Amino acid sequence: MKSSSYQRDARIDWQAFAPDNIPTKEKWPFLETFLDRFPPLNAPGRRRTVLDLGCGLGRISRVLFEKGYNVTGIDINQAAIAEAKNKGSAGSPSHFRHFALANSAADPLPYLNDAPFDLIVGQLVISIIGDLRDRRQLLANAFQWLRPGGWLYLSASGVSDEINSNYARLYAQDEPLTGEPYSYFSRDSDGNILYKTHHFQSDELQVLLQTAGFNQITVNTVKEQSSRRPDQAAYFFYATCQRPIE
Ligand SMILES: C[S@@+](CC[C@H](N)C(=O)[O-])C[C@H]1O[C@@H](n2cnc3c(N)ncnc32)[C@H](O)[C@@H]1O
Repeated sequence: MKSSSYQRDARIDWQAFAPDNIPTKEKWPFLETFLDRFPPLNAPGRRRTVLDLGCGLGRISRVLFEKGYNVTGIDINQAAIAEAKNKGSAGSPSHFRHFALANSAADPLPYLNDAPFDLIVGQLVISIIGDLRDRRQLLANAFQWLRPGGWLYLSASGVSDEINSNYARLYAQDEPLTGEPYSYFSRDSDGNILYKTHHFQSDELQVLLQTAGFNQITVNTVKEQSSRRPDQAAYFFYATCQRPIE
């Protein structure tokens, strides 16, 4: 990663983002399949626990709750958390918290009082969390918050210039600003920068997960519609991995 003369703080971008415009997907077939096969930890007499990292309006959190999990959803966007709480069903054991992931590695691990979790889900978060240090720190946090033997499910955007020339143009245009290949700025219709997105190369996510200490790593690549441009194709990675049983 080269140093960039154009510094932008991803936390400020996401704190200010209009909650109803937070990018999401309508369906999560990989997550559904993973949950159907999710190897149960030995949890007699208690609901299994899941953390929804960067939960936005809590759509996935609610599906997880309906599937029988005790859910904690965290997000840096206070307005999104307020909406997620409002949409929650009465008596639901879902907890939504305003919480910032990926603090600098120099800081102590942020304290999350519901940890440890049996499962952590991070849908469309590792691509937009900031730079490489933030991605590493997200995974370090997730590792520490998982129970030994617990699983992490992540979705991430993939490098898509071969199937979509718009991405080739964006990568070339913004690399001098982001300082990183395959990173670009998502912009609104007036051209104002909204946030930075990083698209992963095929081995990149695998190596990050390995380096963070996970094993049993599986990364599936799928060609889909882009989350913000549904008329355009993009690659996505769906990764699952386990915190080793100590
Ligand atoms: C692309 S959206 C995905 C939302 C949700 N996971 C979904 O799939 O519907 C990314 C989410 O990550 C949140 N986010 C970004 N940076 C964060 C951080 N440092 N800590 C916690 N949440 C963050 C954003 O506010 C946003 O809600």
